[in-house]
Amino acid sequence: MEKLVIQGGKPLVGEVRISGAKNAALPLIAATLLAPGTHILHNVPDLRDTRTILKLLESLGITWRRQDTTLMIDSTHLTFSEASYDLVKTMRASVLVLGPLLARLGRAKVSLPGGCAIGARPINFHITGFEKLGVTCRLENGYVDAEIEGRMQGSTIYFDIPSVTGTENLLMAAVLAKGTTVIKNAAREPEIGNLIDMLTGMGAEIQGRETDRLEICGVERLSPADCTIIPDRIEAGTYLIAVGATGGEATIKGCNPAHLPSLLEKLRATGMEIKENADTIFVSADRRKGNGKLRSVDIKTMPYPGYPTDLQAQFMALMTLSSGVCVINETIFENRFMHVGELQRMGADIRTNGHTAVINGKGADGLCGAPVMATDLRASSSLVIAGLAASGRTEISRIYHLERGYEQMVDKLTRLGAEVWKEQE
Ligand code: EPU
Repeated sequence: MEKLVIQGGKPLVGEVRISGAKNAALPLIAATLLAPGTHILHNVPDLRDTRTILKLLESLGITWRRQDTTLMIDSTHLTFSEASYDLVKTMRASVLVLGPLLARLGRAKVSLPGGCAIGARPINFHITGFEKLGVTCRLENGYVDAEIEGRMQGSTIYFDIPSVTGTENLLMAAVLAKGTTVIKNAAREPEIGNLIDMLTGMGAEIQGRETDRLEICGVERLSPADCTIIPDRIEAGTYLIAVGATGGEATIKGCNPAHLPSLLEKLRATGMEIKENADTIFVSADRRKGNGKLRSVDIKTMPYPGYPTDLQAQFMALMTLSSGVCVINETIFENRFMHVGELQRMGADIRTNGHTAVINGKGADGLCGAPVMATDLRASSSLVIAGLAASGRTEISRIYHLERGYEQMVDKLTRLGAEVWKEQE
């Protein structure tokens, strides 16, 4: 196993280019199952998670090839309908094949993903939604075995909480159902907009993009897609925060600032300078330029366009370096403070009570390097940020978590002037 070593204390300076979004690539790759033929997806990041979903597609009979960032997926020979525990346990988003398999084959047997490091994460909304569309779902031996005779039947589906992959799964099922489906309290994340654009390009009829009420008028068949994955807003946000934590100055290129409304306002409130253009964000936290101390700012994670849970851990790392007290409220997942214990080992002053963390910022020199352990993807990136800002050497073990969602992170950070490398554990 590899670990990441960081010799901290250097401001990040320069330019970094953002990759395609992991959480858009996964549903878009799954959506290629909906129509036979060759689909073309551009700007696809090469990550552990995108490789996992492609391996899953292969296990269903699909072939694909990659040329740089473009994927060509031939889904003509969709011959199997089962996603095994071995694949699903390594990536929960594998459940995204349920909707397309049901729409195309009328059958899907997919392992239940089980809990994960950040919470229980059930898929009951997905299953109830499929049942509303006429599907019979049996839960047996750790699998969802779902079946329908003929086409699904449009219906009205209401989510108690807006679920991102739930909305995506039901969208992919409803586009080929008979009649009209309405999804109420749908999630509005930009990745869902990307999926809607792909499905519309394939011939689907969907109203309500960017709203919490989606109306889908089912069609009989779809044609192959040619679609571009949106930039990864969580990767962009992670680099913005890292530049802030190290007192650096950088241009984040190839991103979409409009997808980061809450983060950009929060960063401005800390005193960082942020300038947005169509597809770049300039960020400066250069203390020599009089940007002064980092102010404490509270955050509460919410469904989009609220503050994203996927940037909570990184913001906490930033706040350990602030000049006051801040409160972070995590409302999406029940166990997403796994990074707290590791940040404390680096000298952070944090107390938690249930879904709330109180961070007593210790100023720009508040962290020192330490050996720490990554527990999940975003917790790992918060430790990278802490390590970059800390004095001395930080060693982060279990970095396979990072490789699930950050493309070429070591190269990108090195180009920004960080001293960071991988070593065998
Ligand atoms: N929920 C249920 N039942 C369901 C579905 C969701 O109770 O059937 C609850 C969840 O437990 C959670 C809330 O609803 O409390 C929202 O969960 P959601 O379904 O939106 O999460 P997800 O679709 O499983 C996606 C991202 C996550 C991101 C969340 C929230 C993908 C592949 N994953 O997960 O990304 O944290 O939305 O924005 O899109 C990551 O990239 O690190 C990551 C974890």
